Amino acid sequence: MNEDSLRKALAGRAKMRNRGGEAILPLFEWHEELGSTNTRADALGRQEAPSGTLVTAERQTAGRGRRGRVWESPAGANIAMSLLLRPQVPTEQLPQLTVLCALAVARALRELGAEPAIKWPNDIYLGGRKLCGILCETAFEKGKVLHTVAGIGINVKKAPKPPEVAALSVSLEEAGFSCERESLIAAVCDELLGLIGQWERCGSLSFIRTEYEEAMLWLGEEARILTADGGALPGVIRGITAEGGLRFDTARGSEVITAGEVSLRRAP
Ligand code: BTN
Repeated sequence: MNEDSLRKALAGRAKMRNRGGEAILPLFEWHEELGSTNTRADALGRQEAPSGTLVTAERQTAGRGRRGRVWESPAGANIAMSLLLRPQVPTEQLPQLTVLCALAVARALRELGAEPAIKWPNDIYLGGRKLCGILCETAFEKGKVLHTVAGIGINVKKAPKPPEVAALSVSLEEAGFSCERESLIAAVCDELLGLIGQWERCGSLSFIRTEYEEAMLWLGEEARILTADGGALPGVIRGITAEGGLRFDTARGSEVITAGEVSLRRAP
C-alpha cells in the first residue's frame, strides 16, 4: 500500500461522493512510519484539521492499546489507522463512538465474506481469536471537548506474535481471507462516517442495536465481567442498551454494565 493506492481506494467508495458523483476525499496522511497514528491524528486535531481526517501508517513504533497496553503489529502487513472526528453529539454520548467503530469494521469485513463477532464493546473476533482492536481517545481543553480520535488496528496479513497473544490473535489471511489493505481502510471509513451521520441525527445507538446484537460474541451465553479492582461478576450476555451499555443478567437481576475499566471474559 502506498499513498497513491490509498487515495484511489478512498475515492472509489460510493458514500464518499457528492450528489454530482464527484469524489469528496477525506483529507488523509499516509506514513511509512509513525509513533502512533492516534498521536498524529490528535496533533492534526489541535491544528484544526477537518473532522474526517484519516491517518495511516505502515509501521508504528509506539502503537497504543487499551488500558495502557502496547499494540504490536509487524511492518507493512496490517492496518493502523486513525480518524480525527468531531461528532455533533453531547459529550456524555462520545463513548458510544467505540460501538460504532466496531460495527463499521464488522460491516467492512462482511464485504470480504468474513463473519466477524464483536466482543462488547469494541474488539473484533474471527473464529474465536482477536482480529482487530479499537482505541477511541477524546481530547479536552479547559473542560471542553476538542475532538475524538478513533484508532483502529486490524491484522490483515500477520497476527502479532508476542507469546502472550499468539494463541489469541488471528489475521484475515490466516483465516483464509485476502484483501487489499487500502480497500479495507476505505470501507471502514465509508461505513463509519455514514454511521456517525445517522448517530448525530438519531441521538442514540437505537438505530444499530439489532444489527450490533446479531454480531455479538457470546450473546445469550454465560460470561464474566472483570473489574479494575480484580473482581469478577458472572452472568449471561443479553445485548446492549441504546446508550451502548452491556445488558447482563446476573444473580442480582438484570444489570447494565458501562465500558470504562471493565472487560468481558468467557465463563470458565
Ligand atoms: C486494543 O485492543 O487494545 C486497542 C488497539 C488499538 C490499536 C490501534 S492501531 C491504530 C491506532 N494507533 C494506536 O496507537 N492505536 C490504535
